[in-house]
Amino acid sequence: MTIIKTEEQLAVMRESGKIMKATFEYAKSVLKPGITTAELDKLLEKFIESYGATAPCIGYEGYPAATCISLNDTVIHGIPSDRIVIENGDIVSIDIVVGYKGLMTDAARTFPVGTISEEKKKLIKVTEECFFKAVERLRDGSPLGDIGYAVSSHAEANGFSVVRAFTGHGVGVYMHEDPAVNNYGKKGTGFRLRKGMTIAIEPMINAGTRDIKILSDGWTVKTVDGKPSAHYENTVAITDDGVEILTL
Ligand code: MF3
Ligand code: CO
Repeated sequence: MTIIKTEEQLAVMRESGKIMKATFEYAKSVLKPGITTAELDKLLEKFIESYGATAPCIGYEGYPAATCISLNDTVIHGIPSDRIVIENGDIVSIDIVVGYKGLMTDAARTFPVGTISEEKKKLIKVTEECFFKAVERLRDGSPLGDIGYAVSSHAEANGFSVVRAFTGHGVGVYMHEDPAVNNYGKKGTGFRLRKGMTIAIEPMINAGTRDIKILSDGWTVKTVDGKPSAHYENTVAITDDGVEILTL
């Protein structure tokens, strides 16, 4: 079910988005070679809680941490671990859901650590651009196919591939609401977005092929070819004449 948010709900999600923004600024400041993903996760959890907010990922379908931290060939849903040490040259995708006053926002960033390869640099840049291409002409009445087309055409024009096994989604009252937001599709087709809908648009872009595998922990998603992957996500609200990006 899609849920149209009221002005009051949007106001709370805007506040939640500000907490998200601060959390990513904090994440950037503590992301250094030598820190483990478990240490990073704990710091982010405490930071979010310092605002009177929550990390609804904890316990979600049994998920054991506050955030998802995915390095290099891990696409999404990397489980923070005291055995995963961040090193110079890594790219680190951090995916966070903030719960605040009964509503949620969802966002992800991919950060470089130290000196990274040219391929990784381009991958991060193109993945971010995919998001902005997707929201460029988005507004009340836009079909979902426009998002998918914008993301996949930009990724593929740059020699990268789009992960198809996972999608963006409505978000707000629940972590995952309708509609599912594919990162591929045909312009002018599909479900039409309406004013007041809030969706997470989240391109997951691979340097190699789009094929992924899920590890035996049931969560960690990696590229099959071992090449790197990047993730960039914001929660946006659809308005009459555009979108409001709530988590930026
Ligand atoms: N932000 C993720 C998403 O969009 C949530 C990861 S699953 C969880 O689906 F278990 F960590 F919550
Ligand atoms: Co999401």
